[in-house]
Amino acid sequence: MVATPLRTALKPYKLPRFKLEGKTAIITGAGHGIGLSLTKLLLKRSVTVVLADTHLSTEARALLSTNPPVALYKQTDVSSPASLKALFEFHRKELGKEADIVVPNAGVYEPEWSNFWGEEREEGAESLQRDAGGQMVMGGGYYKSLRVNLGHPLFATRLAIEGFLRERKEGRVVCVSSIAAQIPNILTPLYCAAKAGINHFVRTLAPLDERLNFRITACAPGLVRTPLWTAPEHADKLAWIDQEKDTWIEPEEVAACIVELIEGNFYKGGSVVEVTKGQRREVQCYNDPGPQGKSISLSRGNDHVEELLKGLEAKLGRGYLEGFT
Ligand SMILES: NC(=O)c1ccc[n+]([C@@H]2O[C@H](COP(=O)([O-])OP(=O)(O)OC[C@H]3O[C@@H](n4cnc5c(N)ncnc54)[C@H](O)[C@@H]3O)[C@@H](O)[C@H]2O)c1
Repeated sequence: MVATPLRTALKPYKLPRFKLEGKTAIITGAGHGIGLSLTKLLLKRSVTVVLADTHLSTEARALLSTNPPVALYKQTDVSSPASLKALFEFHRKELGKEADIVVPNAGVYEPEWSNFWGEEREEGAESLQRDAGGQMVMGGGYYKSLRVNLGHPLFATRLAIEGFLRERKEGRVVCVSSIAAQIPNILTPLYCAAKAGINHFVRTLAPLDERLNFRITACAPGLVRTPLWTAPEHADKLAWIDQEKDTWIEPEEVAACIVELIEGNFYKGGSVVEVTKGQRREVQCYNDPGPQGKSISLSRGNDHVEELLKGLEAKLGRGYLEGFT
């Protein structure tokens, strides 16, 4: 399939546009990057937003102080089901209704503390533990990033659907996937698996759109200039990018695509929409050609594969790589 430019000639889907003004939204990971850009766009459209994050940037904090009561903050750890439930409860209590829009956007990029190739660093990594709400969860380091990147969008979607049903109203969920769902990268196996999981997950829920007007979709961005790459603690990841060759998308462009998925009538429930520099493309379930256009490459990624193997060898003992050509 050929990539289509912004504002394509796609025929509008039969449903009317979703009116944003006066609606309420939960956005996870709203403290920085894409989530923060989306918050700003939705506030401009008179949507009341509950920002959920472990912590807020100064910019996000300023939004709260300049926008009461339409921007509220609930500190949330999305890896904990109890914390996610408390977030939805907070929305209900503060705003007196269920959320109309839910964007499970929070994510981490194969961090050191939950990295397929790294050490399991947290205590109790192999055992079940109780979280703050008394629920049994996998111990800290056992692929915790999968709980953030995959478990959380699944559970948040489930909570959103329950809310739409309770109030018998149309609703929108946009999960945040990535082109990494389609581009395997040995440096980030957990991240790629989580994002591929999101694509398939939203497709399974496609029938909810026709039946109930609950539209669950996903946005799959390319390389976006956010703290996920640019924060000083992620300098190792930034080294995978060739600043001359690789192309960034700005978070505002991704946020605009998410708004289109919420209010527009181009894309049905179950759609996965890729957003790269200057273009959007619907990712097909079958026979898709894979990511297209700019913002899809990490030109220096391959340079780091040997480093990764050496790290693994160092963990096991010396000499294991000898003899492999
Ligand atoms: N930046 C990119 O190149 C890119 C590309 C494709 C997809 N994405 C996806 O976009 C989404 C947003 O990422 P971003 O690029 O804006 O990065 P970011 O680091 O700027 O924002 C991610 C946010 O998630 C929050 N977060 C992380 N763990 C959390 C937890 N346990 N509980 C609550 N909040 C938590 C962080 O505090 C942060 O505010 C992620 O799902 C990411 O995978 C990013």
